[in-house]
Amino acid sequence: MHSGRGHWASRVGFVLAAAGSAIGLGNIWKFPYITGEYGGGAFVLVYLGCIAVVGMPIMLAELLLGKLSQRDPVGAFRELEHSRSGWQLVGWLGVASAFVILSFYSVVAGWALAFFARSVMGVIAAGADPAMIGGLFSELYANPTEQIVWHAIFMGVTIAIVSGGVHKGIERWSDILMPALLMMLLGLFIYALTLDAARDGARFLFAADFSKLTPDAVLEALGHSFFTLSLGMGAMITYGSYLGRDANLVRAGTWIVILDTVIALLAGMVIFPIVFQFGMEPGAGPGLIFKTLPLAFIQMTGGQLVACVFFLLLSFAALTSAISLLEVAVAFFHDEVGLDRKVAAGGIGGIIFLLGVPSALYGSFFDFMDQISTNYMLPIGGLGIAIYTGWVLDRARAEGGLGPGVSAGLIAAWLQVLRFVTPVLVLIVFLHKIGVF
Ligand code: PFF
Repeated sequence: MHSGRGHWASRVGFVLAAAGSAIGLGNIWKFPYITGEYGGGAFVLVYLGCIAVVGMPIMLAELLLGKLSQRDPVGAFRELEHSRSGWQLVGWLGVASAFVILSFYSVVAGWALAFFARSVMGVIAAGADPAMIGGLFSELYANPTEQIVWHAIFMGVTIAIVSGGVHKGIERWSDILMPALLMMLLGLFIYALTLDAARDGARFLFAADFSKLTPDAVLEALGHSFFTLSLGMGAMITYGSYLGRDANLVRAGTWIVILDTVIALLAGMVIFPIVFQFGMEPGAGPGLIFKTLPLAFIQMTGGQLVACVFFLLLSFAALTSAISLLEVAVAFFHDEVGLDRKVAAGGIGGIIFLLGVPSALYGSFFDFMDQISTNYMLPIGGLGIAIYTGWVLDRARAEGGLGPGVSAGLIAAWLQVLRFVTPVLVLIVFLHKIGVF
């Protein structure tokens, strides 16, 4: 164990921080729109299956590698293999993914901040001109300076929190941001339940029409289960590395996965009733949040307040995820290179900010960064983590590491799934994404 290394102060603090990493733009921005595109209920069902068969086993594997090694993702493999084995490459890929993902993630988070500001200033408010509201996003998108300013503000806040350290920065802020996020989402959910279209929203989300379920939808569900749980790039290895020996990973992992899933479904149960209530289309693609929803907000009484709450919630969700992305890189430079945490957070955060600038300027660069990370880096990383944990890691350590009180049957089942089921499924998605079939 490394002396002076930060640790979580409480179990709840850890679960909130890790759930904060998982719950992000993926849940509130992406999940509803891909569900809309792939037709609703049947997609949701497949997504839940993927979370259970692929997400949960890899979540446990990542937390385990972190807890056993007490190191960053690169150091974790070196520590566990007692040498510079090739498995370290999986860790390197994870650190690289953190740079790539955070660079464009922060640009989208900047959009959320920009829309929050427009809501506070009363631009998005009941009675506004629909033509103007419909054009808000294109206007922002065509204004690189404004996008870069919000991107800089968002990265600045992320850097400030990560600089504070595991306990005083990440955990303390997760303890504040996550309950606030939950309260705001519950408030919006209760509002959505009062709408006449609440039933239509629920039907859309939960009534399974399997004729709409294409192979593409299945693969999208599997890919998304990775992104939404922050898997495949060592974020959960890093967070797991700040756990003590007595942590029960099954209990913590179950909480993280349940919170992430419930929040995604709640977001859908907020967004779809609103979309249907005001006569709009659910499958509106990425514009669902920044174009369709504002058009609904201006038609409702109290629309300004609802808009403020919604975009603040989106910003908080993005922030706790961005914190974990930056922490992966900071942990690496702190543990492996010996950089001071504050210097690492500021320096790396600055580089990631610069890396994000082209994403704010050119949509094609943004798409490239998104595709390369989601389609290549995360699946390859996840495959590496599953194979390493299932086949290479010392069996006794794998079995003993999940925590006290975990039944032998559960451990055996987990290892079998991790060895045989998870890698095959991930490989299929990966090959499909790169166009092999
Ligand atoms: N899980 C986050 C989301 O759903 O928005 C995205 C993410 C965060 C991916 C952290 C990977 C990561 F390490």
